[in-house]
Amino acid sequence: MRIAERIGNLPPYFFAKLGRRIAELKAQGRDIILLDIGSPDLPPPDFVVEAMYRSVRDPDRHGYGGYYGTPQLRRAIATYYQNRFRVTLDPDKEVATLIGSKEGIANIALSFVDPGQTVLVPDPGYPTYGMGTLLAGGVPVSVPLLAENGFLPDLEAIPAEVAQSAKLLWLNYPNNPTGAVASLEFFQRVVDFAKKYDVLVCHDNPYCDVTFDGYVAPSFLQVPGARDVGLEFNSLSKTYNMAGWRVGMAVGNAMAVEALARTKTNIDSGIFLPIQDAAAAALTGDQAWLERRNRIYQERRDRILETLQEIGIEASKPLASLYVWAKVPEGYDSGGFATRLLEEAGISITPGSAFGPHGEGYVRISLGMSTERIREAMGRLKQFVY
Ligand SMILES: Cc1ncc(COP(=O)(O)O)c(C=O)c1O
Repeated sequence: MRIAERIGNLPPYFFAKLGRRIAELKAQGRDIILLDIGSPDLPPPDFVVEAMYRSVRDPDRHGYGGYYGTPQLRRAIATYYQNRFRVTLDPDKEVATLIGSKEGIANIALSFVDPGQTVLVPDPGYPTYGMGTLLAGGVPVSVPLLAENGFLPDLEAIPAEVAQSAKLLWLNYPNNPTGAVASLEFFQRVVDFAKKYDVLVCHDNPYCDVTFDGYVAPSFLQVPGARDVGLEFNSLSKTYNMAGWRVGMAVGNAMAVEALARTKTNIDSGIFLPIQDAAAAALTGDQAWLERRNRIYQERRDRILETLQEIGIEASKPLASLYVWAKVPEGYDSGGFATRLLEEAGISITPGSAFGPHGEGYVRISLGMSTERIREAMGRLKQFVY
């Protein structure tokens, strides 16, 4: 029996591999503090859980969830975009519902990329942009995100022939893993680039509501012309602490929304109806709690930065996202530093190299762990001699 080349050639998903090593260490009785994966530790607000509970008790809410999402959820997504970004969306033509944004990120490649075609992917970046491209038979071309450019891609540095042959350009601000943010002025330059080279822009915005110090993250769709060239992916995972619920969206260009939805009708059968009902409640309900939740993350961020500074590790202060992006100490590569921390201090962080070659030299520390455990991890870090 032989597996398909398309799978055989894929590197294993980094977090799946790391998870196996952590399980081995735990089986040996070690206490491991997980600051690697970006999964919120806090629960969704009560009113969202209540909406789920009410719906799941309804005997009529247990059939297939519908290919396109309920009209109520699509309208709720449009309402959220209107209230949050002053972006008006047609819920029937410009909104696709997703079983978490990750599947949409992979499926958009199946919808737009033919074998051999290229996709511009940020490096470092969320691995699924490149993996989805590979699954579609496409070729990911890395676009470096460098500290000296504020971790924004230098669009002018992309050779014209590369830009001309590219089908998609992936962007993600607030950024995973660097925590960098982008301005509307930058997004305007992206629209100009996309028009010039006929590239579909896929902006991934799951951290838009995980922000600190009063920062308000924009939507790519706020920029004039964005809808002609782009799609924005978004998710309830980080905004509403609903990572395990699997609900997200792709919004914007109607043709791209239709192509993605058409692909998905052949692959999945929609989201469980009570989850759609709860998602609609989350998107249209009281948003004031987000500020309180973000203050908790901000306190964790500050605690981590304080410790890093004390022990001489360089890191900039992120205005958004669930991560601190820190330089590894001299004499280490990112994998070596992360491995020593895991094996010797029982702290699991992500080596920057898991996000692409330009992530080398950095590690990513997640804020999605209880404040108490983060304090404990920082105590261990201070004891750790590197
Ligand atoms: C940048 C980015 N995009 C997308 C996702 C996927 O989110 P979900 O599939 O939970 O919506 C993640 C998850 O960590 C992420 O960091």
